[in-house]
Amino acid sequence: MTLSRRTLLGTAAAAAGLSKAALAQKPLPASRPVAVSSSNGLRAVAEAVKRMQAGQDPLDSAIAGVNIVEDDPNDMTVGYGGVPNEECVVQLDACVMHGPTARAGAVASLEGVKNPSRVAKLVMESTDHVLLVGPGARHFATMNGFPVENLLTEKARKVWLFWKQNLSDKDKWLEPDPEHYDPDVKAFIDEFGWDEFRKPQRGGTIHLSAVDARGDLAGCTSTSGLFFKMPGRVGDSPIIGAGCFTDNEVGSAGSTGRGEANILVSGGHLTVEFMRQGKHPRDACLMTLERIARTTREKRLLSAPGKPNFSIAFYAVNKQGQYGGASMYALGDTGKRRQFAVADASGARKEETAFLFEGRI
Ligand code: GLY
Repeated sequence: MTLSRRTLLGTAAAAAGLSKAALAQKPLPASRPVAVSSSNGLRAVAEAVKRMQAGQDPLDSAIAGVNIVEDDPNDMTVGYGGVPNEECVVQLDACVMHGPTARAGAVASLEGVKNPSRVAKLVMESTDHVLLVGPGARHFATMNGFPVENLLTEKARKVWLFWKQNLSDKDKWLEPDPEHYDPDVKAFIDEFGWDEFRKPQRGGTIHLSAVDARGDLAGCTSTSGLFFKMPGRVGDSPIIGAGCFTDNEVGSAGSTGRGEANILVSGGHLTVEFMRQGKHPRDACLMTLERIARTTREKRLLSAPGKPNFSIAFYAVNKQGQYGGASMYALGDTGKRRQFAVADASGARKEETAFLFEGRI
């Protein structure tokens, strides 16, 4: 994809090379409070808006929403029940950012604490730091009364074991008989696809951005990271400016998908800066995706020139309550249109994301 400077300075749609489908989506009129999140956050955005309608702070509301997903063992991309790392250990990352006070907190590679978003908030509130990692983050959580639990569910353990058994034909593990796959493993394959066991590029996350009735903003991102990641690998989710960024004068944005790609463009911050320039949140998300597509140059990460072979999505809300979500590809693994979750005065619902490229990876 070659884009001239002139093109880049043109409309968001032109700059992002937007599809007709994306352009056809007319932004709805803004209403506050609003919460926007990745598609796994339908209950989360509903909870966040309910709390903001009751007058609660937007960050407390965002975290309460995200906690629902962190606590849910059926969401294998976040918190309790998340897919473990290479060594079968669940390591969680999260961050929070509070618009009114312009403060942030984060934790990375946190083991044994199922609500990393709450620990991140405590880092923000009770320390001089922004980011605590690994054993230090866990010690901090324990000293502050967070229970330490086994976050590895039976389903996640079985999925890890299946991955290990199928990893290589040169090790001593034998591949399970396809006639007798465990039902939990089958369900995982149905949800995420067989490739996830061989190409560990996949993960999941929740990002939630919120604006309250006064126009105060907050953001929260939480994840168990890439499936079967290297121990200690940290993605974008706990990186302020990548997995999440909030500016109370402008808006809040965050991401799910390949964290390495997001870190390299500081995507959360970039999306907020595009909104500062007057772009609609949806177009700001698309422009960040276009930046990622344009700056992804390694062959191993491309399916064609300018076309990344990974999934990534952004979600954003501005101070006025306009919102949007956009993904690199229109379709998800199952061939269905990718969606994001949003809640406002009209209730909680899923909407289709705008997208940079038709089809799927
Ligand atoms: N976006 C989540 C991660 O890369 O860990």
